[in-house]
Amino acid sequence: MLNIDWKNLPFGYVKTDYNVRCYWRNGQWGELEVSSSETVNIHIAATCLHYGQEAFEGLKAFRCKDGKVRVFRWEENAKRLRNSADGILMKSVPDKLFKEAMELAVKLNMHYVPPQDTGSSLYIRPLLIGSGPKVGVQPADEYLFMIFVTPVGPYFKEGFKPVNVQIIRDYDRAAPLGTGHIKVGGNYAASLIAGERAHHEGYSTAIFLDAHEKKFIDEAGPANFFAIKGNSYITPQSKSILPSITNMSLRTLAEDMGMKVELKSITVEDLAGFDEVGACGTAAVISPIKKIQDRDTGKVYEYCKDGNAGPVSTKLYNRLRAIQSGEEPDKFGWTHVIE
Ligand code: PLP
Ligand code: COI
Repeated sequence: MLNIDWKNLPFGYVKTDYNVRCYWRNGQWGELEVSSSETVNIHIAATCLHYGQEAFEGLKAFRCKDGKVRVFRWEENAKRLRNSADGILMKSVPDKLFKEAMELAVKLNMHYVPPQDTGSSLYIRPLLIGSGPKVGVQPADEYLFMIFVTPVGPYFKEGFKPVNVQIIRDYDRAAPLGTGHIKVGGNYAASLIAGERAHHEGYSTAIFLDAHEKKFIDEAGPANFFAIKGNSYITPQSKSILPSITNMSLRTLAEDMGMKVELKSITVEDLAGFDEVGACGTAAVISPIKKIQDRDTGKVYEYCKDGNAGPVSTKLYNRLRAIQSGEEPDKFGWTHVIE
């Protein structure tokens, strides 16, 4: 029996039994390898170490009421990893390999999938790195694709309780024609100072604005932004944000609930007119926001006046979680059972 406090897991690393790995060498992907090592032996001149040839994904497996384990929308993560690979000239991972590796990584660590009703899940972290050596700035000739899994709780420690966030202008996470739309490590490095400062100043995360005009809401460091206004679900249209699979799913659910979905530029001033706002992502699920403080103007935008998530965010959260945990019929075909 594992000695894990499933209900109080943070979003952190817990060692599991195995991870899986596959190399691209000499023009092709090799065999999937299973490893029980937590480390990687890597060339000192590997391009991931010098020139940022690294991309990752994040998806979750859930233990469901019927005892089965289901993974949420893996095809979308596989597709996004292909886009990320293309964006920084890495060899892309075919969906078939992604699926095989993901299924194997979960199956080999099945007893780490948290029990149902604990609020925790098994986080699946695929990553792709340039492992071949180069000294000049060029793409590598060798790539390593790996997947490890780790049981996690909510990304923001508040879980579904509303959080405070901070709008900042003195750092950019991604440029309009840069790499914000793909999930590469460099974006996260660029977000670290603002993110850590937000934590020190008492906020759960920083909200980045568009890097060009500093007028429009882009996203939070680890999650997309959405707002509810009347019967509309509104989320930013921007070239520099990551196309979130959770956000895409919430848009579908909102439409299914009879709401209007609007993808458009959102100014900081627009914040005053919203009924509810939140951050969304695989790790964050939905994190309702109760206060947004503009770090430069001092202006404060407040929501969730009674301290709880708003009714629409709550409905969306409950439906998403019900589909993920197999409690609601999967009418959109989003889940995949790991047999
Ligand atoms: N935005 C950023 C910058 C992220 O890192 C993530 C996490 O993956 C998201 C948004 C949410 O995306 P998804 O819902 O696909 O997890
Ligand atoms: C995710 O939601 O899967 C993420 O990757 C966000 C964060 C942990 C970087």
